[in-house]
Amino acid sequence: MDITSQKNIILTGDRPTGRLHIGHYAGSLKQRVQLQNSGKFDEINILIADDQALTDNADNPGKIRDNIINVVLDYLSVGIDPEKCTICVQSALPALHALTFYYMNLVTTARLSRNPTVKAEIQMRGFAAEGLPAGFFAYPVSQAADITAFNANVVPVGDDQLPMIEQTREIVEKFNRIYGPTLVLPNAMLPDNVTQRRLPGVDGKAKMSKSLGNCIYLSDDPKTVKKQVNGKMFTDPTHLRIEDPGHTEGNVVFTYLDAFCKDEHFATYLPEYSNLDEMKQHYRRGGLGDGTCKKFLVNVLEETLQPIRTQHQKWASDIDTVYDIILAGTNAAKEKTNQTLARVCDAMRINYFKDRTIIKEWETLLRAATH
Ligand code: TRP
Repeated sequence: MDITSQKNIILTGDRPTGRLHIGHYAGSLKQRVQLQNSGKFDEINILIADDQALTDNADNPGKIRDNIINVVLDYLSVGIDPEKCTICVQSALPALHALTFYYMNLVTTARLSRNPTVKAEIQMRGFAAEGLPAGFFAYPVSQAADITAFNANVVPVGDDQLPMIEQTREIVEKFNRIYGPTLVLPNAMLPDNVTQRRLPGVDGKAKMSKSLGNCIYLSDDPKTVKKQVNGKMFTDPTHLRIEDPGHTEGNVVFTYLDAFCKDEHFATYLPEYSNLDEMKQHYRRGGLGDGTCKKFLVNVLEETLQPIRTQHQKWASDIDTVYDIILAGTNAAKEKTNQTLARVCDAMRINYFKDRTIIKEWETLLRAATH
C-alpha cells in the first residue's frame, strides 16, 4: 500500500465489560451512526476489544464472553448497520497480537508509566495489592496495533482516549523512521458537543459505572429508567423549595437534558417552554420544581430509548443472525489486518519465508565470509 494515497478509514471500539449505557450513546454511539450515514468514509471498523478487556479480567473471562453479545446487540439496536460497518472481535485477529509484540520494542516502560489514562485506571482498579498485570500496563501498545492494523486515519473516541492516540502516533512515527514509511498516522475525532463527551452518573459522580449502580443502560426497561431518574438523580441541593432559585450547572437533570432534549420535545411534553434555555431560566429564577424537570427528562429519555429497545428485542430474538454478522465482520477484518502485518514484516525484513528471496542474500553473505 502507498500510505500517501490514504483512504478515509475509521477504527473505533469498546471493551466488552458490560452492557452499554446512555453515556456511551451520547458520547460515541450516536456519532458513529451519523458518521456511518455521512457517506464520508471508505471504511468504518468497530472493534469489540475483548483482548483489551482481558488485561484486567484474566480471572473472569466469562464476563467478557457474556458481554460480547450484549455489546453487539447494543450496537445493532442503536442503528449501527453491518452493511456499512465492519463489526469484529479482537481475539480472533492474530495480526493484532503480532503487531503488539513488535510495537512493544518501540515504547519504553517510562513512557507507558506516563500515560495519564492508564495511570488513573491503575489507581481506580487498586492493583496495589496483587500487582499490576504487564498486559494491562502495556494495553496502549495493543491499541496502537488495533488502530494501525486497520490503516485508520480517524479514531472517534472520548477524551479519555486521547493519550492512546498520542502514543499510537509516537509508535507510528518511530516505526516509519526506523523501517521506512509503512504505517498511517491516526487522528482522534472527539464528539463535537462538549456536554456529550462524558455524561456523569445519575448520582452526579463523574463516571457511569456498574459497580456504583448509577447508569441508565440502553436496554433498561421504562420502569428502571424512571426509577433511576426519580429515585436517584442528583439535582441542586440548594434548591429546597420550588420557589427557591436553582442552579442548572452541575445539576444532572439539566446535564442530561443538554445531551438529549430537542426543541420539539417541549411542544409534546412541556409546552410552557419552547426550548431548554427558557426552561433553565425559569429554574434559575425559582418556581420550577425538580419533579416537573425529572418527569420531562424521563419523557425525553424515553423518546431516545424506546426505538432502541424495540430493535434490541428484535435482534435478541435472532442470535443466529447476530452471530453471522460478527463472524463475517471478523473474517473481513482478519484479511485487512493480515495485510498490514505482512507490510510490517516486509518493512522490518523479518519476512524470511516470503518467496525464498533471502536464500540469495544468505548465500552472498556466506560467500563473503569465506573469502
Ligand atoms: N480503549 C478503548 C476503550 O476503553 C477501547 C478500544 C480498544 C479502542 N481498541 C481501540 C478504541 C481502538 C478505539 C480504537 O474505550
